[in-house]
Amino acid sequence: MDEDTSEGATPGGDGRESDPARGPSAPPRTDGGTERADEPTEDVALDPWGSASVGDYADLFAEFGIEAFDEVDDDVPDPHYLMRRGVIFGHREYDAVAEAMANDEPFAALSGFMPTGDPHIGHKLVFDEIIWHQQMGGDAFGLIADLEAHSARGMSWDEIDEHARNYLLSLLALGFDAEDGELYRQSDNRAVQDLGFELGSKANFSEFEAIYGFDGETNISHMQSVITQTADILYPQLVDEPKPTVIPVGPDQDPHVRLTRDLATRVRYFKVTEAFASFELDDEERQLVRAAYDALAAGSGDDGDGSDADVRCEDAAEWLADYEPPESDRESVDLAAAKSTALDKLRAGGKEPLRPRVRFFDRNATDEAFEALIEAVEGEKRVFEGHVDAFDLTRDEAESLAREVEIDHDGFGFRQPSSIYHRFMTGLTGGKMSSSVPASHISLLDDPEDGYDKVKAATTGGRDTAEEQRELGGEADECPVYELYAYLLAGDDDELTKEVYSECVNGERLCGGCKEQAAELMREFLEDHQEKREEAEELLDDLDIDLDSDRRGTGGEH
Ligand code: TRP
Ligand code: SF4
Repeated sequence: MDEDTSEGATPGGDGRESDPARGPSAPPRTDGGTERADEPTEDVALDPWGSASVGDYADLFAEFGIEAFDEVDDDVPDPHYLMRRGVIFGHREYDAVAEAMANDEPFAALSGFMPTGDPHIGHKLVFDEIIWHQQMGGDAFGLIADLEAHSARGMSWDEIDEHARNYLLSLLALGFDAEDGELYRQSDNRAVQDLGFELGSKANFSEFEAIYGFDGETNISHMQSVITQTADILYPQLVDEPKPTVIPVGPDQDPHVRLTRDLATRVRYFKVTEAFASFELDDEERQLVRAAYDALAAGSGDDGDGSDADVRCEDAAEWLADYEPPESDRESVDLAAAKSTALDKLRAGGKEPLRPRVRFFDRNATDEAFEALIEAVEGEKRVFEGHVDAFDLTRDEAESLAREVEIDHDGFGFRQPSSIYHRFMTGLTGGKMSSSVPASHISLLDDPEDGYDKVKAATTGGRDTAEEQRELGGEADECPVYELYAYLLAGDDDELTKEVYSECVNGERLCGGCKEQAAELMREFLEDHQEKREEAEELLDDLDIDLDSDRRGTGGEH
C-alpha cells in the first residue's frame, strides 16, 4: 500500500494516501498559554488524492471560506476534547448541528474511510468524532469507501475486504453503536448509488476538472467514486428526513464537501429569496433596498399593524441616491457598486409599489409540485411564470413550506451538509505522518510493544541537553509527543495535557520521562483497543455487511 497505486490520472498523485492523519501540523491549541507558532505559509491546496499539506491552517479560512471552529465552540453543549484543544480547527455551518444538538432536534454525523491500509491513530480522530456525535444523540454513519479505493487507488477487492474489516472492527471497538447507527460499504448500498446517479445529473466534467484537476486521462470510475461520495454525504438525509448533518474529515476533503453543498442546493425544487418588487435583487442590492424601505415605511406612518406602507420604487430611488452605506465594514465596497445597480432597478420600477415579500422560484419542480406550492401558500400571493410571491410569510416559514412540498412530491428537500475539520497529526519521526513510513505513525493493529517502542523513538521538541531543557524549557508546540497526549493519550483529561504542556515549557519535564509516560499510555491504549476489537468480532459478524465480496474485477495496480 505504500507505492502509488493510482493510475497517474489522479491529480497530484504522489503515492501517499489521502488519509486524515497526514501532513505537517501546527500544534494543537493548548491551555498552556502560549500562542501557536505558525509555520511559514506554503501554497494552500486541498487535494483529496494528493499530498494534503497544510502550511498554515489560517490560510484555509481566507482562501476557501472554511470558518474558524472557535466561533461555534460556545454553541456546542459539551464540546469534545478535540474541540476544546483546537484539534478540530475549522467548520462549515456547524452552527446548524450544534443548534440541533442543543435543542434535541434530529441531526446526523457521517464519515467515510478508504480501505487502503490499516486504520491508524489518525483515523481514530474521525472514529471518535462520529461516535461522540452518536452519543450526543445524532444518527451516526460510517462507511467504507471501497469504490473509491478500487477506482482511485487500484486496490483489489480482496485487499479491500481485509482492510474494510479492520476499519469496522476499530470503529466498533471504540464505541460505535451499530444497532443505532449504520455502517455500510459504498459498493453494497444501492440507495447511495441511486442518489449519486441523481446528483450526477447536476454536475458536469468541466466542474470536476476545475475542482479536482481531472482531465482526459482520468478514469471514469474515479469520477463515479466522487459522485458516490457526494451521495454518501447526503445519505443520512435520505434515510429518514432532511436534517443538519456533520461530516468530520481532514481539510483535504473540503472540495468534496463544497461540491456536495452545491449539489444539495441544485437538486432542490424551489429557491426561496426575498424581494421587494417584481424585479430581482442580489444580496447587496437587497440590503440597500431594505434600508430604503425601512426608512420610508417608518416615515409614512406604518404603525406596525401589518398593513404595508405606501412606498413606491421611485421614492426609494430618491432616498437611496443620497444614502451613504456605512464605510466601516468590508462589505462597503460591494455596497457602493450595488448602489448604482439598485438605483437603476428602482428607477425603472417607477410607480410600482415597494412591498417586502418572499419569492419562490421554480428550480426543478414538477408541474404538480409547483401547483401544490401555490396552493399551499397562505395569505396574499401573486403567481408569475416560474415564480410565486408570498406577502404574508416569513423567510423561515417559506423555507419550511418549500421543503415540505418538495418532499411530498418525491423531491429530496436536502439541507446543505455541515463539516468539521481536524488538524493532521505530525509524524512521530517529524514531518508528515505517512502510511508509507511505518515509524511515522502507529497503526491500531500495531503490537502494543511496537507502539511503545515507536513512541520511545519519536522526535521531540526537546533541547539538546537536559541542562538546556531545564533552562529554556521544551518546545511542546513543536513536539509530536505532546501531540500524542493532546490528540489521544490524555483522552478527556484536560489536566494531564495542561500539566505536560506547562511542565515542558517551564523546563520541569525532561523528554526521557515524558516519552516513557507516553509510551506506556500508548501500550495500554493499544492493548485495550485490541482486546475490544476481539470482542467486536462478534458484533461485526452479526451485522449485515458483506466482507467477503464476490465481485470480479481487476487485481489492482501495483
Ligand atoms: N474520500 C474519503 C477519503 O479519502 C472517503 C470518503 C468516501 C468519505 N465517502 C465519504 C469521507 C463521505 C467523508 C464522507 O478517505
Ligand atoms: Fe515533548 Fe515531552 Fe520533551 Fe516536552 S518534555 S519536548 S512534551 S517529549
